[in-house]
Amino acid sequence: MSAEEIEVIDFGQGSRVFRSNKRKVAAIAKHAGISPKRQRLLFRLTQYLKPEKVLELGTSLGIATTAIALGNPSAVVTTIEGCSNTAKVAQEAFNSFQLIEIQLYAKPFETFFAERPSEKYNLVFVDGNHNKEATLHYFELLLKNTTTNAVLIFDDIYWSPQMTEAWEVIQKHPKVSVSIDTFQWGMVFFRPEQQKEHFIIRL
Ligand SMILES: C[S@@+](CC[C@H](N)C(=O)[O-])C[C@H]1O[C@@H](n2cnc3c(N)ncnc32)[C@H](O)[C@@H]1O
Repeated sequence: MSAEEIEVIDFGQGSRVFRSNKRKVAAIAKHAGISPKRQRLLFRLTQYLKPEKVLELGTSLGIATTAIALGNPSAVVTTIEGCSNTAKVAQEAFNSFQLIEIQLYAKPFETFFAERPSEKYNLVFVDGNHNKEATLHYFELLLKNTTTNAVLIFDDIYWSPQMTEAWEVIQKHPKVSVSIDTFQWGMVFFRPEQQKEHFIIRL
């Protein structure tokens, strides 16, 4: 893993690990990136669900993005990262893996939503800015930007008491039919034909 050091602009809630904005790429992968286990899970999920259009909020180095793109090579994967230096490293990785279906935008999530109001996604991975208000705001925006067969995955639902409150609001939302709490992720489905049900599965 790269020993390169980059200057990071901390979007979102800041880090509980890093004290400086100069960070080694290898350390970002270790502390901010999803784990190999979650990466495998995302790969299998996208392989199974075959979503045509995927949105990821919070690219970081692109660990999850890569798993999603490899899980369904015909998907168009849009991923958003506010820190342009971090996004540059991710883009280089996508280029070297020849993952040409990944569209990476280096901009704040809010700007992205303001610019692309009519886009619809089948799978959304929300992995950035872990605070209650922001998470609920993204959820409200995503309700207009997802198909009825879509799945939304919220990472770090137990990162703080406020994130757990946000997750409870999301899972109880009238448009959500099925919700799954995996302890790390909160997943929601909208399928109107399905009865409202909540599952807790330790994955
Ligand atoms: C936990 S990391 C994402 C990890 C990544 N999904 C992976 O697979 O390793 C969260 C990322 O979201 C970005 N981020 C947080 N809030 C943001 C915002 N409001 N707009 C744009 N990017 C944001 C941060 O800069 C950070 O790189």
